[in-house]
Amino acid sequence: MSDAETLKRQAAARALEHVRSGMKLGLGTGSTAKHFVELLAERVAQGLEVVGVPTSEATRAQAESLDVPLGTLDEYPALDLVVDGADEVGPDLTLIKGGGGALLREKIVASAAAQMIVIADASKKVPTLGTFPLPIEVVDFGVAAIRRGIEKAVRRAGCQGLLTLRRRPDGHVFVTDQGHLILDAAFGVIPDPAALAACLADVPGVVEHGLFINLASRVILAGADGVTVLDR
Ligand code: A5P
Repeated sequence: MSDAETLKRQAAARALEHVRSGMKLGLGTGSTAKHFVELLAERVAQGLEVVGVPTSEATRAQAESLDVPLGTLDEYPALDLVVDGADEVGPDLTLIKGGGGALLREKIVASAAAQMIVIADASKKVPTLGTFPLPIEVVDFGVAAIRRGIEKAVRRAGCQGLLTLRRRPDGHVFVTDQGHLILDAAFGVIPDPAALAACLADVPGVVEHGLFINLASRVILAGADGVTVLDR
């Protein structure tokens, strides 16, 4: 396992210490969350009783293959905990998420959970959000017009930067689990995440964006010099 994967696994292992039998658990998406699901499956095989609600079809497939019992958010609308990764962790545990394209379900699941624990390697911690392009999920109708609406709206929040329609490695347009498209916004710096979130919410056609504000309660960062826990 590479050094980076080892750090992700360390953060995942620490998050697993918060899991108790009987919990309804949101299962995040991405390479770090994947470690958590693997470790969780080991505990389930040893008798831990939990129900997982996956935040993506990829996580559902992984959890199913490892025999982690699963349910839907409709069956379990109030979750005890969600454990998920992040692309950036900024001040006040504000996050950028959605690098894997699952931001919409991730945000719905996080909002339904009493607690959100984010797991990441320490490189994800930043003084100001925005180096990682912000994923903005949009409907598959009038994308050029939606893009113009976003460009106007983000200027009001002091942001500007190139919006790129996300594509898969094979060149086809990336389509989310909910059938939407993603515009990745390379802002460089997001001076006021809450203002930007409010402006984006006003643009018709924007379904969701990757700014997670007041959702993470704890962030577990694994670095070369050990594990750091940040609380909000
Ligand atoms: C998935 O849509 C994302 O929000 C991921 O949680 C995020 O991109 C972190 O992924 P990694 O753990 O692979 O860095």
